[in-house]
Amino acid sequence: MDLQIHAQAGTGLSPGYHKVLVPWAVQGGLNPPVVTHAKGCHFYDAQGKRYLDLTSGYVAVSLGHGHPKVVQAIQAQAERMCWVASGYFNDVRAEYAELLSGVAPWAEGSRVHYACGGAEANDDAVKIARLVTRRPKVLTAYRSYHGGTIGASSMTGVDRWRDPFPALPGMVKFFAPYPYRSPFHAANDTEETERALDHLRRVVSHEGAGNVAAIVLEPVTGSSGLVVYPAGYLEGVRALCDAHRILLVFDEVMTGFGRTGAAFAANRLGVAPDLLSFAKGASSSYTPLGGVLVREGIARHFDTELFDVGHTHAGHVLAVAGGLAALKVYIEEGLFERAREIEGWLRQGLGELQARHRSVGDVRGLGAMFGLELVRDRASREPLVEWHHPGGSAPMKAFYGELLRRGVHAYGRYNVVIVTPPLVITKAELDEGFEALDAALTVMEVAC
Ligand SMILES: Cc1ncc(COP(=O)(O)O)c(C=O)c1O
Repeated sequence: MDLQIHAQAGTGLSPGYHKVLVPWAVQGGLNPPVVTHAKGCHFYDAQGKRYLDLTSGYVAVSLGHGHPKVVQAIQAQAERMCWVASGYFNDVRAEYAELLSGVAPWAEGSRVHYACGGAEANDDAVKIARLVTRRPKVLTAYRSYHGGTIGASSMTGVDRWRDPFPALPGMVKFFAPYPYRSPFHAANDTEETERALDHLRRVVSHEGAGNVAAIVLEPVTGSSGLVVYPAGYLEGVRALCDAHRILLVFDEVMTGFGRTGAAFAANRLGVAPDLLSFAKGASSSYTPLGGVLVREGIARHFDTELFDVGHTHAGHVLAVAGGLAALKVYIEEGLFERAREIEGWLRQGLGELQARHRSVGDVRGLGAMFGLELVRDRASREPLVEWHHPGGSAPMKAFYGELLRRGVHAYGRYNVVIVTPPLVITKAELDEGFEALDAALTVMEVAC
């Protein structure tokens, strides 16, 4: 993930601020807003300036900030008990697992393995797939983000150029569809699907299908460019996995919990994986909760075999209490479906921006998960900034800087800006966001 942090006027901060190593940033000269509190779709800095959160933080705070039911559930759990060994049964973990299985994409049911975040969940999904299949290799897409641990960053495709260390052995990459910039020189979506599946079949064949434990995919790619796969692709991957007894893992860390207009993208797209990793929106990021949903037929393997996966904080009861309350709110307030209403607003508002701005090459997305791909030239589709621009680039700095000046937070990678508002956003709030995006595009277009 690339976080665009932009200098603000000097604020005379105490030295402690510069003792924090800020993720994904060159440390020298950093001076982002000091965020002090938040409510709903807004957060506030130390000067009292208000920021509209157009990306739900890192596509995480899906309920907006400070939902009273979730806050109260965490407070109540803190008073009752903050931690219990992961080896014991616990009522909160049990209730969450049962409720979550009820919205999971399998009629046969599922079980939950708890983790603390998305990267840990993906690492664990790989471990589970290897334990079940006793096979070593894992296939992931070049255009993907799976997290920052050594395991998850080995699975991650984007930015491999930036990392001088090789991926862990057994992590194999392939090209997934990207209709706007087809890696397969396809002329339309049907061709893109066919060619991408043919390519994946060849990769599986060359790696030896019998060596492949899992194929891991984001059902809609998130921060690595927000690509919605063309019709038939995920179905084709599912069929390929079935043919070779390869487990299909969906990384739903970003797409889960209503982001695409259903509990999970698997539900919305009608393709069920074998394992599904989740985090972020699970607790609306009020608590650090992640995990892996395991299809019942796969989980049964561990009724007689050792489930050799775990963490001190697996199923941390404060984290799970936050998740349980958030899940109840999603269900009670119909928020899984609300993203479909937001989808209409985004399609229209971002489409209007595309009509007004020559730099907006493509608008794409699903539910409350959209991307704007910025270009120098619409006809040639030349990216506005290089794919591999270390340290960011002047046009994108101008763009995000103007957004922040106008009190709007968003982020993206390279030339793709993501727009993923909280699922509780109102049309009026979103319109404020469109206005700021409009102004920031104008500033960026003049600057470059
Ligand atoms: C699709 C996806 N998977 C995994 C992760 C990693 O999650 P975390 O940062 O909680 O480790 C992210 C984070 O952005 C993500 O977008």
